[in-house]
Amino acid sequence: MAYWTTIIGLLALTQLGLAKYTKFPEGFTFGVATASHQIEGAWNVSGKSENVWDRLTHTRPWMIADGTNGDIACDSYNRYREDVEELVYLGVDFYRLSLSWARILPTGRIDYVNPDGIRYYNDLLNALAEQNIEPLVTLFHWDLPQALQDLGGWANPRMIDYFQDYADLCFREFGDRIKSWITFNEPYEICEDAYGDEKKAPAIDSHGVGNYLCSDTLLKAHAEVFHLYNETYRPVQNGNIMISINSIWYEPSDPADAEQVALAEIANQFKFGWFAHPIFSEEGGYPAIMIENVARQSAAEGLRIPRLQQFDDYWIDRIRGTSDILGINHYTTHLITGPGVDPIAKSPSWLKDIGAVTTMEVGGDSASEWLRIVPTGFANLLRWCKSSYNDPPIFITENGCSDRGELEDYNRIKYFNDYLTEILNVIYDDGVNVLGYTAWTLMDNFEWRAGFSERFGLYYVNITDPERPRTAKLSADYYKQLCATREIPQDDRFKDPALRVRTEL
Ligand SMILES: *[C@@H]1O[C@H](CO)[C@@H](O)[C@H](O)[C@H]1NC(C)=O
Ligand SMILES: *[C@@H]1O[C@H](CO)[C@@H](O)[C@H](O)[C@H]1NC(C)=O
Ligand SMILES: *[C@@H]1O[C@H](CO)[C@@H](O)[C@H](O)[C@H]1NC(C)=O
Repeated sequence: MAYWTTIIGLLALTQLGLAKYTKFPEGFTFGVATASHQIEGAWNVSGKSENVWDRLTHTRPWMIADGTNGDIACDSYNRYREDVEELVYLGVDFYRLSLSWARILPTGRIDYVNPDGIRYYNDLLNALAEQNIEPLVTLFHWDLPQALQDLGGWANPRMIDYFQDYADLCFREFGDRIKSWITFNEPYEICEDAYGDEKKAPAIDSHGVGNYLCSDTLLKAHAEVFHLYNETYRPVQNGNIMISINSIWYEPSDPADAEQVALAEIANQFKFGWFAHPIFSEEGGYPAIMIENVARQSAAEGLRIPRLQQFDDYWIDRIRGTSDILGINHYTTHLITGPGVDPIAKSPSWLKDIGAVTTMEVGGDSASEWLRIVPTGFANLLRWCKSSYNDPPIFITENGCSDRGELEDYNRIKYFNDYLTEILNVIYDDGVNVLGYTAWTLMDNFEWRAGFSERFGLYYVNITDPERPRTAKLSADYYKQLCATREIPQDDRFKDPALRVRTEL
């Protein structure tokens, strides 16, 4: 009898993922993130102009899963004080927010600065300062002014100048209160999803072409803004500046299959390395395998000039080393099953250029098709970043899980528990230098083409109520305890009752 009780008890502990480590190192910081277009609303007030998401949702509403848009969203433009109250309740060290370019510069250019845009962000930054919450500010989180998209958006090299002018204004107006900047949020999603596909606005779908025009421009724009900050603002403002790169981490479906292992590495170079290699690698420039594969495909397509070419020596040097910290957004892992053209790949396309077949048949479920729950993939990604990029300081700038908005969100808590545990494993066992963690997201918000159908918030937001009331989910209390104790909560109340019963057997 005792024997069986022990066995069942051990099984239950394994089920719950008994962790080796629970305590975060001294100085590790915790925060939550949002993005301007996903929460602010007020899309057409006080001088703000139309951005690419306003345009997409208004002219092609069928492209949004539930037909919603960002017109009001969480109404944070009017309710930012409520946002700050929630941050105070959670006890976070910092708040990651983004600035709306179209609210600050309605034409996209610096010929007209909208006073209300400056006023709004000053009010928000001052409200955060009153509560000792550090702002971590993203300059570009996808809401490009439509006026600049009309000129080609990120496929237009002149965007390097427009982005630099916008960043210069933001550093000047807000930089006295900001110690950490992010230039771009998720360059892969900007270039591949919005220019090489139609998964994100402006949904240009120039697959295999627009995506690479975008990456040339975006990496140069990032580098110029880094140098502007480094040379002109850092000496007086003393902050740091980084880029946040998203990974879908690829692993071989069969780890014993050498060909799959090699293809997974190629896929990771195409996904993460596309933007990380030019900035964080010792030699700089796009990964050699990308240049090779695209050149081979382009030749087969009869092109005179490959769709992606290596930067020249000037730009390789100008871009290399332009991020103080490696910002990582991470959600999920997908698998590689073998060589060939993925059945869902368009032609030409980034996916076809990889030359591998992928699958999402791995791990646990979330409310998002693409978001498979594979905590060990996070550890593998972090170890890979340490070895590929010479042990950079790493900041987790997003991590989180979607559901349909449940208040007792055990699946989200388990996701946080398991992913945070993997961070501790790589910090203590592999010496990966992870400095901080950002949960996506403070509250349910406009989740791009998924609208409000996939919810990532620590707070539930009722979007049919004009007051947009926010209600703390169980995960808000979990995160509050994490921030207070710097230790992954082990309390039974945070565990799914179905699993709890097993431990009581
Ligand atoms: C702003 O947009 C709303 C729809 O979200 C519309 O009802 C309202 O008339 C617009 N206001 C102005 C000033 O155009
Ligand atoms: C940043 O500025 C410092 C001081 O001028 C300089 O030494 C350093 O090389 C710059 N960083 C980069 C990546 O250019
Ligand atoms: C959301 O708000 C609407 C309007 O006030 C209300 O009828 C509904 O019950 C609320 N839903 C939830 C889940 O609170």
